[in-house]
Amino acid sequence: MKAYAYAPGKIIICGEHFVVYGATALAAAINRGTTAEAEPSPTTTIYSKDLAGKADLSTSSIPEKLKPIAAAITAVKEHLGEKKGVKLTIQSDLPYRSGLGSSSSSAVAAVAASALALGHKLPLDDVVRLAMSAERIVHKNPSGIDVQASTRGGLLLFTKGSQPEPVELKRKVRFVVASTGVERETSALIERVRLWREQNPSLFNSLVDSTTILSRCCAEALILGDLKRAGAILNFFHTTLSWLGVSIKEIERIVEAALSSPSALGAKLTGAGGGGNVIILCSEEGVEGVAEAVSRVASEAFVTPLPNSGVKTWVQKS
Ligand code: PMV
Repeated sequence: MKAYAYAPGKIIICGEHFVVYGATALAAAINRGTTAEAEPSPTTTIYSKDLAGKADLSTSSIPEKLKPIAAAITAVKEHLGEKKGVKLTIQSDLPYRSGLGSSSSSAVAAVAASALALGHKLPLDDVVRLAMSAERIVHKNPSGIDVQASTRGGLLLFTKGSQPEPVELKRKVRFVVASTGVERETSALIERVRLWREQNPSLFNSLVDSTTILSRCCAEALILGDLKRAGAILNFFHTTLSWLGVSIKEIERIVEAALSSPSALGAKLTGAGGGGNVIILCSEEGVEGVAEAVSRVASEAFVTPLPNSGVKTWVQKS
């Protein structure tokens, strides 16, 4: 018997970085993600063509890129009290280190598929908790927003340490996602923001408070289909994140190209910044045109409708 799990990647619509300091952020699962295949085995092995190849958990030489997944599977086995191993293969269509949640979607898919191969369908709260052991290796002090979006799907208002609040849209919304093609390290960008905060404590705190209000306002605008208002909030956050020093020229080039189209209502970097991706909210009829316009300056651009479902599992009997 083979067990499978698919977990989506995510975009942060607003509130990244400030969410680490207690602000409420708005995130959503996207239409790309990671599939994990797992089957019971005497030892535990991980294989990923996109990451570093292969790891055997009974040896000490686990490639750096596979260490988070290894930690997540170890946590699953401990949680289930299982001695048996799993043979795990993961495959992702999310670019690595790009702010679209590739590490969290890999961890979520790995956790759900491994547990299922060992005979357990985990409740979502357990998937989140166990996948966080991988995220802690990647981000050191993650807020948990990526894992929550990947596990639960949909749109979520997320505040660190609280259960996420689902946001139900009345109509689908489409975002353009455009990649700079520049890989970056989330932990280094979190450190940059920490230093900015240290130098500007009261200003930073007021931005944390505003983020909570604006994330809720953005969620409400998306529910009501008021894309103009939601776009304006995206622009506010992009300016603010650039001010914190987490934008780069490749991001600015995409944002500028996007906003030169009258159909684009708002554009911002998504995730930690320093490279990665830009999200663009457009008038519904202008989505394809904007995607095409930004693809001239981006390394890739695609359209994601929202909402998308969270982690899914299934089995295939051999
Ligand atoms: O790794 P990324 O690019 O998806 O960034 C995660 C969002 C941050 O707010 C920067 C960090 C966090 O843990 O919330």
